[in-house]
Amino acid sequence: MTSDDTQPETTHSAEDDPRNRDILIYVDGALKHRDEAKVSVYDSGFMLGDGMWEGLRLYNGKWAFLDDHMDRLYDSCKAVALDIGLSRTELVAALEETRLANEMTHDVHCRLMVTRGVKVRPFQHPSLSRSGPTIVIIMEHSKPVDTLQSKGIRLATVPQVRGLPMSQDAKYNSHSKLNCVIACLQAEQAGADEGLMLDPHGFVNTTNACNFFIVRKGEVWTSTGDYCMNGVTRRKVIELCRQDGIPVFERNYSLVDAYGADEAFLTGTFGAQTPVAEIDGRSIGTDGGRGPVFARIRTLYKALVAETTQ
Ligand SMILES: Cc1ncc(COP(=O)(O)O)c(C=O)c1O
Repeated sequence: MTSDDTQPETTHSAEDDPRNRDILIYVDGALKHRDEAKVSVYDSGFMLGDGMWEGLRLYNGKWAFLDDHMDRLYDSCKAVALDIGLSRTELVAALEETRLANEMTHDVHCRLMVTRGVKVRPFQHPSLSRSGPTIVIIMEHSKPVDTLQSKGIRLATVPQVRGLPMSQDAKYNSHSKLNCVIACLQAEQAGADEGLMLDPHGFVNTTNACNFFIVRKGEVWTSTGDYCMNGVTRRKVIELCRQDGIPVFERNYSLVDAYGADEAFLTGTFGAQTPVAEIDGRSIGTDGGRGPVFARIRTLYKALVAETTQ
C-alpha cells in the first residue's frame, strides 16, 4: 500500500506509516511538531527556490554515505555563495539531534534543506536575504513499496531536457526543481511513472528524480554525467561495478540503445536501484528490466550499505 492509493506509483512511493503524523521537524535550531513547523513567506526558498537540499537515508542508526552528501551540499552552497552558517560537524549534530528526538533508527528518509533565508523585501536580489540561512530537517519513516521492485517503473521520454551547465547546472540539488517537475508532468501526461530526460544533444541522460542505467550484453552504461545530478548512488554503483569486474561505461548513447537494452534501472538514495520495466511503451529485456547484472549490483549495494552503517 502506498501513502495514498489514489496516486500513481513513483520511484518515491512509500508504505504509509502512522508514526509520521507526529514527527518533530528541525527549523533553525528548534524542534517543532510537523503541524507547527513553518518558514516565513519571505523565505528565499519559498519565494525563489533559492536553496539547496540533500536526501539522506538512515540504516542501523547511521546515515548512509554521509560524507558524500555533505561534500555535495557544501560544494553547491559554496558555488552559489550560500553560507550555511554551520560547520559540517554542527550540521551533522543537528541531524543527530533530530534523529534522536524522533527515536529513529532504520528505514528513515531525511530531507535536509538550506535556503538563503528570510528576505527583507519580496524581490530576487540575494542581498535582500540578510538574516542568515534557513535550515530545515524533515525525517520520515519511509520504506519503498515492494511493487517498485516487482513491477518496475514505466518511463516516457519527455521534451524537457536537463540543460547545459551554464544555464542551471544539473548538478545543483536546488530547491527549484521546476525543470524536473515539468518533465514529471510530461511523463504523467504520457501515462508513465517518471520522465526519461535527454541531454541537449539528444543522448539519453537521466530521469526527473533519479539517475539512469542500462545493461547491454553484460556491460553497464550510463550517461557521461555532464548533464545530470552527480548522484551519490550513481557514483557508488559505478565504483561497485569497477571493483567487481563488471564493465561500466559513462558514455553517450541514444534511445535505440536504451529500447534494446537487456536490463535498465534507476538509482537514487530513496529506492537504491529500481528496475525499469518499460520505456515509451517498449518492454525492457525479458523480465521487467531486471536481470543478472541488476541483481548482482543490488546485492553489492546492500552489502556496501550494511558494511558502512554497522
Ligand atoms: C534529478 C535527480 N537525479 C538523481 C538523484 C539521485 O541522487 P542520489 O543518488 O544522490 O540520491 C536525485 C536526488 O535528489 C535527483 O533529484
